[in-house]
Amino acid sequence: MPPPTSEPRLLSPAQLQSVQRIAYDCCGLDLRRGKEALIESRISHHMREKGFTDVREYLSLLDGGRNRDMLDGLLSHLTTNHTYFFREPSHITFFEKHICAPLAGTREKLFVWSAASSSGEEPYSLAIAAREALGAEAATKVRILATDISLRMLARAREGVYPAEALTSMAPPLRQRYFQLDRASERYRIRDEIRAMVAFRRLNLIEPLPQFPPADVIFCRNVMIYFDAPTRAGVVDRLIERLRPGGYFFVGHSETLGLADERLGYLEPSAYRRV
Ligand SMILES: C[S@@+](CC[C@H](N)C(=O)[O-])C[C@H]1O[C@@H](n2cnc3c(N)ncnc32)[C@H](O)[C@@H]1O
Repeated sequence: MPPPTSEPRLLSPAQLQSVQRIAYDCCGLDLRRGKEALIESRISHHMREKGFTDVREYLSLLDGGRNRDMLDGLLSHLTTNHTYFFREPSHITFFEKHICAPLAGTREKLFVWSAASSSGEEPYSLAIAAREALGAEAATKVRILATDISLRMLARAREGVYPAEALTSMAPPLRQRYFQLDRASERYRIRDEIRAMVAFRRLNLIEPLPQFPPADVIFCRNVMIYFDAPTRAGVVDRLIERLRPGGYFFVGHSETLGLADERLGYLEPSAYRRV
């Protein structure tokens, strides 16, 4: 019997390299080793969505990343957007009890930046936590800027509508207080008072950051794991520059920074404060 033939590859080695280079240069994603199958499956998904059958035609329109629309689509497929409400809950509890609650009855305000917000679960969890700590005062006291590189995720986040499975990580009373069930679609819509606390905007963490006021709190969680060490160091450096002294910095639980940066003091696992 002849040996089984291996599946034909979608991308030649040169084409694969060019996609890896685009992902790295445009987004900081380190997809160089062992990610070939992932790249191929994500590209074929994007090709199907755009109606391409020929990968050469697809790459030629991508034009090395110069076609912004195609690049956005490609990056949206290559990035990992997995997230959920109240992820890494010790951070959200810390935010609610130690950062928001002390603002009650004061004139102080809080500017929070969720720096890789994906489909909105993280910034909405923070808005809910602030509302739990401050009640109606949260609406005027806490402002959350949620940014992501992916236009597709930002659109989903702005819509603020989630299937029931997406809310299972949240205590049921919170779901009842802050979501409305749309009976027709059986999906849950975040209530207006929570949505109004969050502004969404596209921002690429590896590019020079646009101007906005220094943040009191930055959440940059579960994105730096996809960057290599130099990219990660550059991103952390720029984020700390945007944090006001005394401000709080949260990274993902698997992204602990150590205490290499003298501008940061350690609070608890993956939570820091600018000194
Ligand atoms: C795994 S999600 C993390 C979401 C949330 N922070 C959490 O912890 O659940 C990673 C997000 O980072 C975004 N991302 C990847 N590279 C980025 C970059 N260079 N600039 C901004 N966002 C980026 C992706 O689009 C994705 O939505």
